[in-house]
Amino acid sequence: MRIIAIANQKGGVGKTTTSVNLGACLAAQGARVTVLDLDPQANTTSALDLVPGENPSIYDSLIEGADVATLVRATKYDNLSIIPCDLQLAGCEIELARAEDHLTRLRGILHAYRETVDTDYMLIDCPPSLGILMTSALAAADELLIPLQCEYFGLVGLSEIVKVLEMVATSGANPDVEIEGIVMTMADSRTNLTQQVIDEVQRVFKETVYKTIIPRSIALGESPSHGRTIIDYKPASAGAIAYTALAKEFLARHAPQVAS
Ligand SMILES: Nc1ncnc2c1ncn2[C@@H]1O[C@H](COP(=O)(O)OP(=O)(O)O)[C@@H](O)[C@H]1O
Ligand SMILES: [Mg+2]
Repeated sequence: MRIIAIANQKGGVGKTTTSVNLGACLAAQGARVTVLDLDPQANTTSALDLVPGENPSIYDSLIEGADVATLVRATKYDNLSIIPCDLQLAGCEIELARAEDHLTRLRGILHAYRETVDTDYMLIDCPPSLGILMTSALAAADELLIPLQCEYFGLVGLSEIVKVLEMVATSGANPDVEIEGIVMTMADSRTNLTQQVIDEVQRVFKETVYKTIIPRSIALGESPSHGRTIIDYKPASAGAIAYTALAKEFLARHAPQVAS
């Protein structure tokens, strides 16, 4: 099981949309995926049609010592499961902060769990802040996937998250973590700014940037309120086509790793 943190400290850039829909498209293409909802806002949980608060969250493992396997819930989609979020997760940052191992506790829990399952990928939907939950996710992850909105301020935030990643790596908490990819989201093909931002990110981050670009699409914004993924809600939409292509590209990048 590869652990992929989907993170960017900026809110509203497409982390949750990518967690849900990349997860759904990977599952539709045959990969076994678990999404971990680590954002107390619980948007991933409701987008996958679970009621936040009706199930335990990763809080139960982090603070109460519960076995992660008991937290995993099926979704209505084959191959796609979720560790949902509940209200307690909001208090998790404060409780974890008191613990000496706060940076690596999630890592310990997830790395023990992965020895027991045949899941291919765990996608962690991170909260929009550089707090303990997000840094814990970076410490636990094999890879970081950064959704980046096609706008000028997206670039500013990017250097911050790269710095945090370096901090997590050099602290010894997770020396091997790397940026798996940057996915450009909410692209508006009618604006020059979108293209300028994409060009600039590609110039600096080169092959790290996914060739698939996620367009701004009304259906992508609507689908969570129906508790459905984009390939279920509007399978012919531009958003469904884009996330399907992103999943293909993701699988091509990961093919050698899963086999090993
Ligand atoms: N490509 C897109 N096109 C249109 N709306 C989008 C797109 N991606 C995300 N959204 C919407 O924008 C808002 C923020 O996206 P979200 O994935 O929740 O961001 P984050 O998790 O980074 O805060 C949500 O209402 C979501 O439905
Ligand atoms: Mg979110």
